[in-house]
Formats: sequence, C-alpha cells, structure tokens
Amino acid sequence: MKAAVVGNPVDHSLSPDIHNFWLNEAGLKGVYTKETVRDENLTDFITNAAKEGFSGLNITVPHKEKALKACDVLSATAKELGAVNLITFKNGIIFGDNTDGQGFIESIKEKLPNISFEKNSFAILGAGGAAKGIIHALHKNNAKKITIINRNYKKAKDLANKYKETAVPFDLKDIKKGLNGASFLINTTTMGMRGGPASINIDFLSFPEILCFTDIVYNPKTTNLMKSATKSGVKVIGGIGMLVNQAVPAFQAFYGEEPRNLDKLYSVLENKMKVIDND
Ligand code: ATR
Repeated sequence: MKAAVVGNPVDHSLSPDIHNFWLNEAGLKGVYTKETVRDENLTDFITNAAKEGFSGLNITVPHKEKALKACDVLSATAKELGAVNLITFKNGIIFGDNTDGQGFIESIKEKLPNISFEKNSFAILGAGGAAKGIIHALHKNNAKKITIINRNYKKAKDLANKYKETAVPFDLKDIKKGLNGASFLINTTTMGMRGGPASINIDFLSFPEILCFTDIVYNPKTTNLMKSATKSGVKVIGGIGMLVNQAVPAFQAFYGEEPRNLDKLYSVLENKMKVIDND
C-alpha cells in the first residue's frame, strides 16, 4: 500500500508525518512519500501512479486545479471548487475529491463540539483557494452569514456571488465593516506565514462579538494574529487541525483503516512545529 503527497515545492509538507504516524499506530506496512512534480509532468505522474502501485495521492500547491483535469470521475465538491486535494485509484478509474473544506469544519467541531453553524456569522480574510474550500463547506453546513474580506475586491465579489443568499464581499480596506456582527474570524490568506507577507493588525477588543479566531497558517505555530486574539480573550483554533482532518478521509481511502490516536498525533506535530519555530 503506497501513497504520496504531490506538489512543488513539497519539502515542508507535514502530510508524510501524519500518514506515517497513523500507519505506525495501526501496525500497517504502508508507505507514504513526498513527490516533487513539475507542472509539465503532473498529468503523466498521476496517470502512471496507479500502474506503479499507488493506491492514491494527495495533491497540494500549486497542482490542485491542474490535477482535477487528470481525473475521470469527480466528487460534487471537487467539481464545484475546480480543485482536488485527494486522488484515489479504483479499478483503473482516477477519482478526484476535495476534503480541505470539510477538514476545516471538523477541526472546528473538534474544539467546539456543540457549535451550531446556523447560528453564527463567519468573517473570512482572503478569497484564494483555501477560502473557496472553507466557504463552500461553511455554506454546506448552513452558516448563517459569511463575509469575504479580500485585498483584491473583485475576487471577493466573484466568490460571494456563488453564495448570494449567505455571502457578502468586502475590500480589505473596509475590514471593520466586514467584521461587524461576525462571531468567527478565519484567516485564509498567506499573511503571517513564515516567509510570507506581514500580517495586518486586528484590535480584537474593538470587535467584542468575535468569539473565535482561526488561522489556517500553521508555520509559525502561533501567528501574530493568534497572539493578539489570545491576549484579547478570544478563543484561538490553530491551522494544524484542518491539515489533520483533511487527511482523515485520505488515510481511510489509501489504507482502508481508521486513523488512530489523534491526540498523540497533535502532540507529535506540535513538537515538530516548536522545533521549526526555533530554527
Ligand atoms: P491559497 O490557495 O493558499 O488560498 P492563494 O489562492 O494564492 O493561496 O490566495 C492567497 C490569499 O492571500 C488571497 O486572498 C490574497 O489576496 P489577493 O486575492 O488580494 O491577492 C491573500 N494575500 C496574499 N498576500 C497578501 C497581502 N500582502 N495582503 C493581503 N492579502 C494577501
């Protein structure tokens, strides 16, 4: 049983740590590797992978859109998002799915088991690939209202148009208006990421309705926005939970077993992130 994460670059992916941890816990002899694949070789890599004994692949940046074109059958979510993060091979058929958004939902439920999405408004910073997956999943889970706040307003508007009854776009310059009434704030941008653009500052005390802040950035482990949310008494949910939860259905599909010992996995990953933080 062989699977891999495919991207470029892919060196820093934590997916091998997650899958190899679960393989080890289950006592399975499976293998999970990282594969650096260039854009021009992606389609061939995917179509040959089944012949080479892979049971499936995870797809990461920048290949999620292009990989979709190599699939024979797509899930409704993958089709709607125009991107895949999970490919499985069954009876010579290449099946594409997208588990990112539901991974986000599960990571919230893990920390807030009683959450009602219907009763809460969600403010999303960003309108890129990650935002698309999260907004789609929030909408599917009947979120009361979604505001999409982005530097490029047109992208926010185009995305909000897909969810007309629920979503409203805002320019990043109008962030105050976009945060109004939201009980959750989710950063889906690369702001604050190691090596990425600097983050904006948010004075959480000025937005007392915000109860919870989630940053999908997990490197560094604690972003500046997470620090300032914590200081203001806002509950913080880190991005590692989304990564772990999007991997759950992948592990089940690749190896036919349930992932075990999530608590232990989180401490393994947190220790690894601490090491990276100190680098
Ligand atoms: P991903 O697939 O990880 O979401 P992406 O599609 O490139 O990556 O999206 C990155 C997001 O981060 C976008 O919302 C982007 O804003 P723009 O659409 O305006 O480009 C946002 N982003 C990146 N750098 C930013 C910065 N310096 N300030 C504000 N937003 C930024």
